[in-house]
Amino acid sequence: MSHVAAVSAPGKLVVLGDHAVVYGHPALVTAVGQRLRAEVTLLDDPVLELDAPDVGVTGYRKPLAQLGEGDIPKGAKSVELALRRFIAAHPIKGGMRVRTSSEFSASFGFGSSGASAVCVLGAAMQAAEGAIDRRRVFDLAYQSVKDAGSSGSGIDLAASAYGGLLYFVTGGKAIEPLTAAPPFLIGYTGVKVDTGTIVAEVKARADAYPAVIDGISRQITSLVEMAKAAAMKGDLRVFGDAMNFNQGLLESLGVGSTKLSQLIFAAREAGALGAKLSGAGKGDCMIALVTPERRAAVASAITAAGGTVIDIPCNAEGLRVES
Ligand code: MEV
Repeated sequence: MSHVAAVSAPGKLVVLGDHAVVYGHPALVTAVGQRLRAEVTLLDDPVLELDAPDVGVTGYRKPLAQLGEGDIPKGAKSVELALRRFIAAHPIKGGMRVRTSSEFSASFGFGSSGASAVCVLGAAMQAAEGAIDRRRVFDLAYQSVKDAGSSGSGIDLAASAYGGLLYFVTGGKAIEPLTAAPPFLIGYTGVKVDTGTIVAEVKARADAYPAVIDGISRQITSLVEMAKAAAMKGDLRVFGDAMNFNQGLLESLGVGSTKLSQLIFAAREAGALGAKLSGAGKGDCMIALVTPERRAAVASAITAAGGTVIDIPCNAEGLRVES
């Protein structure tokens, strides 16, 4: 065992089932090829030392016995709460020095704080035990985001831990890697949103109109199942249709926006087989299903409509040990 580990984890984009997945329904998610990196060194002293310069945290130091207590800088919170869970489940003798760095902008809605919890847990496990167990990483990360008060489904954590294209059910009731790798293209609206706020708005609508939101969520479930079967058969046309239907239902949930619609219609009109918002909605990114022949035309159309194409691979590798 080396007692030092460097690990990286990808961000995510929800492909189908956004929001409904918060209410116990399934969703599909893809890992995106921008990564967060964490290095963990085991220390003799029982302290956490954290440097996360990308989120404004340098020289942060705290006794392990006090993790989770007092004022925690925003950029340190997901790491500190994740390590508190790790240490409670896997007591270690000393402490840890942690350094994180990120390739991706926190603006895109790729799930950067979830990725940092997963990445740091992976690195801690690798340093302390010499191997990573993705399921344990997911479970600890999910507990830690709940500790932080999140009402999210945990879908970002599963994508960062497992990578690829996943079929996921709330809280990790199912985490099923699919062997398919549909060709996605990402467009960013330029509008940064707060996921927690929009999840709370949909929750308020679900409380006010339970039967309506339940009906919409059930329809979304049937689209997720349809897309999953289509992905396994390589039927991109049906997969794209499922994305287009899902966009209509997300509009019904009240999370569309003019900008998202402009990018989505531009993509479809330029030949995308399907296009929809991804994640919370109202901003962040849209995701399109595009064959290689139409990729350049769809990318130009998204740009002409005022979006920014984020040209990175999807269905990317999950947690991995780096040298
Ligand atoms: C956000 O990326 C996806 C949502 O479904 C919230 C969640 O699942 O936690 C809107």
